[in-house]
Amino acid sequence: MDVREALRRRRMHRVFRPDAVSEEVLAELTWAAARAPMGGNELVRRIVVVSDPAVVRTVREVTPSFLADSPTILLICTDLDRAEAAMGRQGRDVLSLLDAGAAAQNVALAATALGVGVCFVRSVNDAALRAVLDLPANVRPDILIGIGHPSPTPSPAMRYGKPVVYRDRFGREWPLEWQPPSLPRTRDPREVGGVSRGAGGGGIPAGADRFRMALYLVASARDCLEEPLIYGPFRMIEGVSRLLSDCAPVDDFLAEMKAQIDRQKYNVMADREAFGRWLDELLARFGAEAARRNGVEEAR
Ligand SMILES: Cc1cc2nc3c(=O)[nH]c(=O)nc-3n(C[C@H](O)[C@H](O)[C@H](O)COP(=O)(O)O)c2cc1C
Repeated sequence: MDVREALRRRRMHRVFRPDAVSEEVLAELTWAAARAPMGGNELVRRIVVVSDPAVVRTVREVTPSFLADSPTILLICTDLDRAEAAMGRQGRDVLSLLDAGAAAQNVALAATALGVGVCFVRSVNDAALRAVLDLPANVRPDILIGIGHPSPTPSPAMRYGKPVVYRDRFGREWPLEWQPPSLPRTRDPREVGGVSRGAGGGGIPAGADRFRMALYLVASARDCLEEPLIYGPFRMIEGVSRLLSDCAPVDDFLAEMKAQIDRQKYNVMADREAFGRWLDELLARFGAEAARRNGVEEAR
């Protein structure tokens, strides 16, 4: 696949098939990561491929921002001691992060060419990841990449507006007629997608696993201190979905609400306003249901 075609098709996938990609594909993706440029030509990047289902599951559980159910994870991290020794503080704090980003994007493009889906996750709980993956104190986890075969019913793709580009000086407008390169348009069903199915965040099994729910909330509370504001509402709505995992068929209303939440939740990323309107509608349904359950209608 032409690199421009890969650029156009590239996207984050959030719903994956349960079967993992082959070892050959994983090897090719790590090769792509290793082909990324390196600040100071210093190899400070470290890659951990996580495919043991129990470890993958645990990584996802301690990472509430992992908005994907991929069966495999690739972690790109940095040997901080080596980065600092070779390139000073700038190397440790800046260059190595750019290295990780470049490697991650290589993986995303290579995956697109291979027909594989990826999802970047930067909001990670370092302490928890250290414990789960035995990361030494001098190794900083930079970005997790979920990897898998995209589901035939993917989450909606993001829409991109006009980029902000200046000419010669910051703020000096460039009347850029922005057009994506004209390439033959062969529609890939994975590219745009309809409605998402499945519990991308890794739903809890029937019987309500309180431990996982508690872990999700604790890790979310920690994350909300530092991560983008919009993740907070997502965490709560995802929390509701998980809470309701075992309510069907006992409570039809809650079962219907859960199905609706799972269909709509990823719109928080795609269209914030629509997400807000949908939350209002959801709340109105809950409000009417609360009135009904409290006998308000009968009393009127
Ligand atoms: C540096 C970086 C960090 C990101 N962190 C997360 C994350 O923690 N969780 C997540 O679900 N997506 C994360 N993403 C994915 C973005 O949400 C996604 O790229 C964006 O919504 C645009 O969608 P697209 O890549 O499908 O076009 C990250 C992307 C980048 C580049």
